[in-house]
Amino acid sequence: MGVQNFFVPIRRKTCGCILLVLAVFVLLLMVYVMDILEFHNKVNNTKIIHPPTISNVTPPAGVWYNFCKLKPLSPKEAFEEDLLLQSIAWPDTPPLQSLSLRKSSDPAHSTFTILGRMGGGQWQIGDKMEVIIKMYDFQGRPKNCGGDVIVARLHNPALGAGVAGKVVDHLNGSYSAVFSLLWEGSAQVILVHPSEAVTVLGRLTREQPDRVFFKSQFRSGRVTETTTCNVCLRPSRQPVCNYTELHTGQQWFCYKPEKLSCDARISHSRGDLHKTSPPWRTSCFKGMHYLFCMSVVRG
Ligand SMILES: *[C@@H]1O[C@H](CO)[C@@H](O)[C@H](O)[C@H]1NC(C)=O
Ligand SMILES: *[C@@H]1O[C@H](CO)[C@@H](O)[C@H](O)[C@H]1NC(C)=O
Ligand SMILES: *[C@@H]1O[C@H](CO)[C@@H](O)[C@H](O)[C@H]1NC(C)=O
Repeated sequence: MGVQNFFVPIRRKTCGCILLVLAVFVLLLMVYVMDILEFHNKVNNTKIIHPPTISNVTPPAGVWYNFCKLKPLSPKEAFEEDLLLQSIAWPDTPPLQSLSLRKSSDPAHSTFTILGRMGGGQWQIGDKMEVIIKMYDFQGRPKNCGGDVIVARLHNPALGAGVAGKVVDHLNGSYSAVFSLLWEGSAQVILVHPSEAVTVLGRLTREQPDRVFFKSQFRSGRVTETTTCNVCLRPSRQPVCNYTELHTGQQWFCYKPEKLSCDARISHSRGDLHKTSPPWRTSCFKGMHYLFCMSVVRG
């Protein structure tokens, strides 16, 4: 009896050990296979470049979104999403494959024409002024497609007053900007992004939906910590706080602070932009470029 009792536990232990070793082995194999799959996905990802079509904006588990799974939309939400997307729809911009800096919109080469005042004479407060902008590339060749991001404004810093002009994209390389001259000030047309930059930014946003990130501060007593938050967080070893809205299902996550608990969250703020270099090196796409600038004074 004593002998049997002595042996049984040993056998169980050996058996348990073998099972444990097997389990660890299977786990390692799974991780290895998953790594390979992930690697294949990555290799494929770098090749497939989807053009920014509207139906592509929120694929449930698209290629670029593999770390960001959003809950499926109800028909009502899908309809609302469609309306929102339509309201921000943007003309086609040059495809990624054919991008070249020399062929991108260049404010320095571009021209503007102020259409004459209706009825002639000096511009007066209350008039509408129309400016035709003709876009050229860095080689001085006329652009023949639209999609540049252009902002027109009339502002007067002294008055603290500003009004946005209306920009119409004629989709052939020319644009109209219409200003309502509501006060004396300076009328400006700014090229915020050439259409080529729109293509690049669209691609970056699809590849890295977390490019714009947010921050939250956690505080308890004298301890303060700040972590990164977003609709989706990239999987990592760091634990995550899940602040998903139970009623609407609206996702929100922050990395858990090291010392404090998820309940110690006291603030929310915009983080920054994860800067990624565009496919080519240039400072030309940075900052704003004035296409046209003039002063409007009482006649
Ligand atoms: C890319 O994906 C396809 C299927 O989607 C697969 O047949 C092919 O082997 C993959 N290519 C690479 C390099 O992983
Ligand atoms: C571009 O389109 C506008 C509006 O249709 C037209 O007035 C203009 O002449 C066109 N410009 C060129 C260069 O084709
Ligand atoms: C976050 O919480 C929501 C609501 O409780 C849940 O449905 C979701 O699965 C959670 N997500 C993660 C990644 O834990």
